[in-house]
Formats: sequence, C-alpha cells, structure tokens
Amino acid sequence: MTSTRTRELPMLGLTHGNRSPVTCRLRCGDACAKPVPNTSENQHFRDIASKALSRRALFGAAAVGLAAGLPSVLGADPLASADGGRGAGLRFEPITPVTGTLDDMTVPRGYAWQPIIRWGDPVLRGAPEFDGSAQTGAAQAGQFGYNCDYLNIIVTNGRGTEALLVANHEYTNEELMFPPDLDPAEAIRIAWAAHGMSVVELERRRKRTRWTYRRGARLNRRFTLETPFSFDGPAAGCDLLTTDEDPTGTTARGTLNNCSGGTTPWGTVLSGEENFNQYFLAEGTPREARYGLGPDGDDRNWRSLDPRWNATDPGYANEPNRFGWIVEIDPHDPNSTPVKHTAMGRFKHEGANVAVARDGRVVAYMGDDERFEYVYRFVSRHAYRKGNSAAARRHNLRLLSEGDLSVARFTGDGAQDGISDGTGEWIPLTRNGRSMVPGWSIEEVLVYTRLAADRVQPTKMDRPEDVEPNLVNGRVYVACTNNIDRGKPGKEAATEPNPRNANKDGHVVEIAPSRGDHTARSFDWNLLLICGDPATAGTYFGGYTGPVSPIACPDNVAFDSTGTLWVSTDGQAGSIGYNDALHRVTLSGRERGKVEQFLSVPVGAETCGPVIHDKDGSVFVAVQHPGENGTWAEPLSYFPDYVMPGERGRRGDFSGPRPTVIQVTRH
Ligand code: FEO
Ligand code: CA
Ligand code: CA
Repeated sequence: MTSTRTRELPMLGLTHGNRSPVTCRLRCGDACAKPVPNTSENQHFRDIASKALSRRALFGAAAVGLAAGLPSVLGADPLASADGGRGAGLRFEPITPVTGTLDDMTVPRGYAWQPIIRWGDPVLRGAPEFDGSAQTGAAQAGQFGYNCDYLNIIVTNGRGTEALLVANHEYTNEELMFPPDLDPAEAIRIAWAAHGMSVVELERRRKRTRWTYRRGARLNRRFTLETPFSFDGPAAGCDLLTTDEDPTGTTARGTLNNCSGGTTPWGTVLSGEENFNQYFLAEGTPREARYGLGPDGDDRNWRSLDPRWNATDPGYANEPNRFGWIVEIDPHDPNSTPVKHTAMGRFKHEGANVAVARDGRVVAYMGDDERFEYVYRFVSRHAYRKGNSAAARRHNLRLLSEGDLSVARFTGDGAQDGISDGTGEWIPLTRNGRSMVPGWSIEEVLVYTRLAADRVQPTKMDRPEDVEPNLVNGRVYVACTNNIDRGKPGKEAATEPNPRNANKDGHVVEIAPSRGDHTARSFDWNLLLICGDPATAGTYFGGYTGPVSPIACPDNVAFDSTGTLWVSTDGQAGSIGYNDALHRVTLSGRERGKVEQFLSVPVGAETCGPVIHDKDGSVFVAVQHPGENGTWAEPLSYFPDYVMPGERGRRGDFSGPRPTVIQVTRH
C-alpha cells in the first residue's frame, strides 16, 4: 500500500539539536534546553602532535588505502574483495530527498511499503481491536505499544515463513494519543502499558513476500512498566538498588524509555533504557544531576498514581537507579524472566550490540546518548557456547552477567593529514569483578557509571547512539547524532573525533580493533562520514567525491548480508530540511563513503530500527513519532491509515498518526 492521501504541512518550529519541541520534552525531558550533565573537568581529548608521524604511518595510510579501494595496512579488507560492501545486496535508484513537510512514506521506484503492525494493534490473546476513543490501560497492555524504536525480524524456520518481530516502545506522546477528555489517571495507566517492548509472531506463505502478524500467538508478549525484571551481575542486591517496594534490590518493576538494541548470537534481544530521568521527581543531588535527574523533571506526573516516581520520598530514593540499564529478553521463551545486567553499567543506554571475539568471549559495544557523553565496551568473562542445546542456552544466557566494562578514549593524530583519524584505547572501569576506579566500589562504578567514567578521562562525544560491530569487516561503527553545544562558551570545543563546533549534522566513526580483536585494549579510528548537505564545507564522505544523498543526524546503523552499512536518521528536518531517512553507505572500494537514500518517513517521524533482509528483497523500519508536533484535535499526520477527517476507516483504523513497523518490498 502506498498512500495517495498525503498532505504537505507547514514547517513547524524546530528546536535545540534539530528535534521538534514536543520530541524534546517527551522523549528526553528537554535535555538540550537544560545544562549539560557532564560538567566533569575531563580534558579527554588531546591532539598528541608527537604521535602524528607514527599515526600517519598507520591509519593515515590505511584510510587513504581504503578510500582508493586498496588493501588496508590494518589487515586484509574483506569488503574490498569480490562485490562485497558495494551495495550489491539490494538494487535501487536512490530517492530524491523529501521536503520535511510531506506526510507520506517515500520508497524507491519498483518498491512498495505496507504496515506490519501499528500502535494499538492487538498482540495478546483477548486484547481488543484498537479504538482511539475508548482506550484503557488494560487494553493497551495487550496491544502493540507506542513509539517503536529498536526492531528486529528474526526468521525462525528454514522455509523463511515464520519469524518473530521484536520492537521497543520508547516513550508516549499524550497530546497525540489521547482525547482531551480522557481521565488523567487512565491516561497514565495507558502510558505505562504503551512503554516497554513487544514480541509478535509473523507468518507468510513463501519467501520474498509480505509478512503479517499473528494475533494472540503463543510467543506474543508485551513488556510494560508492570513486568517483573530481575537484576543480575555485581550490583544486584546492593544497597544502591533497594527501595521500600524491593528491599532486596533484586527485582525491578518494568522497563522504561527503551531506545535501540541488538540481537545476540544466542537469540535474545538487548534493549537500552535511555532517558529514564525525565519520569522522576528528584532532589537533584550531584549524583542525580549527572543523570539529569532533578526537581524540574516529571512532566507526566506519574507520581500522582504511584509513589515510586517520587525519588524525594526516602523509600524510593533509589528507584531511578533501577533504570538506565541494558535489559535482555528471550523472545523464544514467553515464560522467561527478563534481566537487567548491572555488569554493563548504568547510563542513558542507546543500545548494545554484540560480536563474538576470536577467543569466544562476547563483546558488547554501547553508546551513552547525550551531548558530551562516552562510548563503552563490555567483554564477557566466559566464552560463547555454540549450539541450541539446553546447556548451551543456559550458559549463554549468563554471558552478560560477568565481565569487564571499559570506556573509550579517542586520540587524534592531528589535522595535517587532512583526515579525522587516530588511535584509541579502552580504559578499564571494572576488571575480574573488581573496580578499576580508585576509591570506588564495583557497585558504585556500575550504578553511577557516568561519574566513574569521568575520573578516567574518556572522550566526550557528540551524542553517541548506535555502536555496532560489522560482522563482515570486523570494524565497529558509531553514530554520533549531533551536538549543537560543542564549542559554546564554557563547553569543550571541536576535537579530531568530534571535529565541528555547533555540530548540527553529526558524524559516523569507524573503529578498527587492533589485530582485528574485539577484546584488544587499543584500536584505530577514522571518521567515515562527517554528515550534512554535501555542498556544505566541512562535510566528508569517506573520501568519495561523486554525488551522494544529503544525510544528517545519524542514529541507528545496520548491515546487510554483504556487510554494507545502512544508517537511519533522527532530526534531518531540523538540520537540512528533509524528512528523516534511511541511507545505504558503501564501505569499501572506490565508492567508499557513497551515500544513497533508500526511503523517507512521514512528517515529524524518525526512522528507527532498520532491518535489511536484502537476500529476501525486504527492508523494515520502525516509523517513530509521525506527526510529532500535532495534537489529537489537529493531527499533522494520518500515517499509516490515512483516514481523513469525516471519513470512516476500517475496524481498528485511526484518523491520526500511529507509530508503525513497515516492510518495504520489491514489486
Ligand atoms: Fe532514543 Fe538516543 O535516541
Ligand atoms: Ca588526522
Ligand atoms: Ca536513537
């Protein structure tokens, strides 16, 4: 289905960091309008001129070699061989960027899009059909949640006809979701149920066709703010996690603000709890303020129904400490208890993505998505066990419970070589179950990870979001969305890894672990993309000088079967004037750095969770917050049902915007 019922809408005021004012308030608690929480004296970045020569001899040459399609001195580049990495996976003509006012999906010629599941569609057995005018918390608890972000489509049979869809539900937009006369208490109960995650069974008749979801299927599941999660790892049960409700500090109620994530080799899904601070009223102690917690949060007034959202209540002072974790769910076992992994640290987790190192240990890369925050790495103590035996599954489900956490320092080799590049190291925060931060217990390091990291001088990055290893070329890609505060008075100025002041367009970092070993302490890095309109000075596209699609505010990254990079955006409309998009980025050969736009999402929406099944001819995205600046009475988007005012849709349709997972297929 491709709608013709579209409208062009006036460009509304966009604000700090390119987001709409509504997105800023509801998703991040107006983080950009508030002081940057990282006020540490951490002078993390230094251009070490004396190292420039040796560095140029290494990565400088490598970067030049890569740009020219030559083998890298860091090791053979698997993408440079055959046709791998040159976008051979999916054939399409890049679309023309779409003005930031169009209320429609735009896909390449020869492709079509269709919804798989929309906000409010019934997931659990007995859940009612969506009725926007008769919403209840009980109904929403059985329906697909709001604002889908992370997405995966996990094919579960050899014929390719069964799959599991797993999606996060990051936050709610009450102005768009609820009729103005809805009881405020019921609105809160709906919001609690609309957050969290969903697992949904999919089916189809044969490969290369459209998926549909099964209502009430056995594995369908909702995770909400009422779902019990267990804590594991070194901080589980510590005093910093206890509350009146859970004096043991071992069981959390629910998961919150789940942004991006990753799927593990053992079939579980990791999800990042991100801007949890905005839901709490707090005193704003220094430890709280480092996470943005304070007396001006809590717009949604959840504490009016449940005292745990009031951290100034002594019995719930630690409740905010019970969010901000990586959670792991097992979508294959509907009775499993989901876990919050304290060993992976507590910050504003964007997500976590896993590679298996040569020695079998599991390495998870993670971003802390806020201006001037850090990139982290977790290395498991134990090795991954192959196979699907019950023993292997039990073993692998414990892999993220024990391991070493470290934080990244990027060092530039100087601008003389004309390339933003350098070396880096992972600075340990924990090792062998012990704190590596002098004077800090391991529990303190893991619960107050931001503050612990401040003490070891990592690099302050421009909103590091997805950090994902490419399993084909062995490198790691970091999407730095933007940071308009860089270089402002009193704020750190441009550095080689974050090379622009008032960085409104973001960049993508490529990391090459030393010796190709994800557990190595050192790495080389370079900026693959310095985003923006290519006509703008200072942009860089991997050395490629041919035509590229404009790209800004990279957020989520994914790889197709050839190892080619795909990047989705969050905030292009506010930076370069185009609706958010999904782009393919060639990584090797003469076209390394070539950006080709694949799709564009409707007005106000962010492109999330890209999943590229190129061999199956499909691309999936989660269309998050379409029509963000509208209201119930005056929607700015009617995606995806396009039931216009005065019209009657089909049962379950909605005359307004619905966050929706869509599939794009070839005709
Ligand atoms: Fe939820 Fe970092 O975006
Ligand atoms: Ca350089
Ligand atoms: Ca994101």
